[in-house]
Amino acid sequence: MIDFEVKPLNRAFKLIRIKPQMLIKMKEVVPDVYYIGVNDHLTKLFEGLWPIPEGVSYNSYVVKGEKTALIETVKIPFIDEFLKKVEEVTSFDIDYIILNHIEPDHSSSLPRLLEKVPNATIYCSKKAEGMLDSLYGITENIHVVEEGEKLDLGGRELVFYMDPLVHWPETMITYDTKDKILFSCDAFGSYKALDFGLFHDECDPDIYYEETIRYFSNIIAKYVKYVKKAMEKLAGLDIKIIAPAHGLIWRKNPQRIIDLYIHLSDRMAIPGVVVIWGSMYGNTAKVVNHVVEGIKEAGLPVKVLNFSADHLSYLIKETWKYKGVILGFPTYDGGPFLNTSYYLHLIKRKDLKERIVGFFGSSMWSGRALKQAADQVQELDWEVVEPLLEFKGSPTDEVLEQAKQLGKAVAERVKSS
Ligand SMILES: Cc1cc2nc3c(=O)[nH]c(=O)nc-3n(C[C@H](O)[C@H](O)[C@H](O)COP(=O)(O)O)c2cc1C
Ligand SMILES: [Fe+2]
Ligand SMILES: [Fe+2]
Repeated sequence: MIDFEVKPLNRAFKLIRIKPQMLIKMKEVVPDVYYIGVNDHLTKLFEGLWPIPEGVSYNSYVVKGEKTALIETVKIPFIDEFLKKVEEVTSFDIDYIILNHIEPDHSSSLPRLLEKVPNATIYCSKKAEGMLDSLYGITENIHVVEEGEKLDLGGRELVFYMDPLVHWPETMITYDTKDKILFSCDAFGSYKALDFGLFHDECDPDIYYEETIRYFSNIIAKYVKYVKKAMEKLAGLDIKIIAPAHGLIWRKNPQRIIDLYIHLSDRMAIPGVVVIWGSMYGNTAKVVNHVVEGIKEAGLPVKVLNFSADHLSYLIKETWKYKGVILGFPTYDGGPFLNTSYYLHLIKRKDLKERIVGFFGSSMWSGRALKQAADQVQELDWEVVEPLLEFKGSPTDEVLEQAKQLGKAVAERVKSS
């Protein structure tokens, strides 16, 4: 496993220039609580799927009372930087390793860490215990945590709450009762490495806003039901600091990220329209500006993306964000344009519900692609604005006028919804 991971890392090092700010230093979150995470600017696709052009961080923490606990590890390619920080803060004197989540971006350094701290007890959920065995063959020194269980560190206490399916079924969260810190793991996380500071008040949190939405819609989206349950559970906790496993630490106004998460778990649906189009020979493309004009005339913001040029990660994100969606694509082999089909498949997998949608696109003989797509999205409770604007070959002036009316009709419907 280590060989497999380290080789691509070495290759990648030759390709990119490491800027000093990419290596983040260990930092105090509050007295006796330390950040010991790392920035990843090497991975191109998170989970092998989602582009992270601005990197991602794997956040790990040390909490000290009379005893010392370490919370989460990091992805294995960053083991050397991680162990250096662990040594600096703890001298490898660690009593407990808390693993809120076993996905390897947080757990894959565990076997190497245990070589340094063989007597540390691992705290994790029941389901996590089986995962540690199947991933790493680790079966000893594990303490299975119950809902609400407390761990007394001496002068400081940690409490564990199960948070299943945010992001895996074994996930839990850890709460520090002294400084009211919520170690929330994937929840409240984002893409984008911590190049500008660890805390939201050290940098402009707005630059993380879009990447938080993209992270949520790509990674957590499918489990909104469970995010909602988690939010209800957290409502009873006095939270002063949110320390997630990816992205910024929220210490001055944690409510800001909590509110965003509530909005995200309601599938956002901001009043506005995303237009996503694809075209092989330019016929469908000719219609796009007219659709956009109609939306603008209705006074709503519009975002335009392309099925071929923009990664699905961004298409899903913008669809999560806006209430209105207009999809333009030609008929291809008796169905929707292939990239559109993948998008339609993915919105179903992500359970992206309740949008107001319009369709336009060119075909030559059988057509039907728009109808097929409309049938598919209705399963997700999307409201289809009629008529489906399917035309043969190049659009006529009449079609272009209808396209403008389509943009307007979807926008008006969004405004009144
Ligand atoms: C590979 C391929 C498959 C196609 N399959 C269909 C089809 O099944 N039914 C149909 O009506 N048109 C089909 N067409 C024709 C296109 O839908 C038509 O050329 C359309 O104008 C292309 O729009 P565009 O210029 O926006 O790419 C196909 C075209 C290509 C290149
Ligand atoms: Fe995860
Ligand atoms: Fe994660």
